[in-house]
Amino acid sequence: MIAPSILSADFASLGTEIDAIAGTGDGRADWVHVDVMDNHFVPNLTIGLPVVEALRKRTDVPLDCHLMIEDPDRWAPGYAEAGAHNVTVHVEAANDPVMLAKNLRAAGAKAGLAIKPNTPLEDHLDTLRHYDTLLVMSVEPGFGGQSFIPDVLEKVRTARRLVDTGHLTLLVEIDGGINPDTIEQAAEAGVDCFVAGSAVYGADDPARAVAALRAKARAARER
Ligand code: DX5
Ligand code: ZN
Repeated sequence: MIAPSILSADFASLGTEIDAIAGTGDGRADWVHVDVMDNHFVPNLTIGLPVVEALRKRTDVPLDCHLMIEDPDRWAPGYAEAGAHNVTVHVEAANDPVMLAKNLRAAGAKAGLAIKPNTPLEDHLDTLRHYDTLLVMSVEPGFGGQSFIPDVLEKVRTARRLVDTGHLTLLVEIDGGINPDTIEQAAEAGVDCFVAGSAVYGADDPARAVAALRAKARAARER
């Protein structure tokens, strides 16, 4: 699965930017990744609930909301109620991530748990039993266009193993620095869903960029 991040899109034309990856075939995005930042959990400020509500009306591509915010226990369920398909919160920010996952699911969304590059996976395995997606950050959250941190692939391999042996039931998602040069190693490590911002919206033809990323990931997974 490919999830273009609109963080690298033209914010003055978000509707048409999403239309560009909402066509048919391999260039169609599986999810649209929406980066919500509050200038507290990360040193950047982006968009929030009103924009998610507007995007939900605009497109039928499922919205994947990545909340880089403090106190997600309070704010995240609102994104589920707004119709987000998957709502991801940071384990470093959540007070009661198990209760939060239950609230997200009760509000009709899948529950995602994100871990920053230096956050160990092992400390959160019990929590992850309550989640539908694991978002492994491969850059420090806050900005698009950063370089991929290959060390995080060890966490992807561990998660893949736990899913394949039935110890966890979730999608493994990766976010940060994914482009045609890095997607193959991530796919080989076992990623299911690839977020790509600058590699999609920095391209002349975003749909072609999605299709090209998909082809590389598929080939690497089949090897
Ligand atoms: C970073 C965001 C990412 C970002 C990825 O904090 O969570 O989703 O948009 O952008 P690229 O693909 O350019 O690294
Ligand atoms: Zn993100």
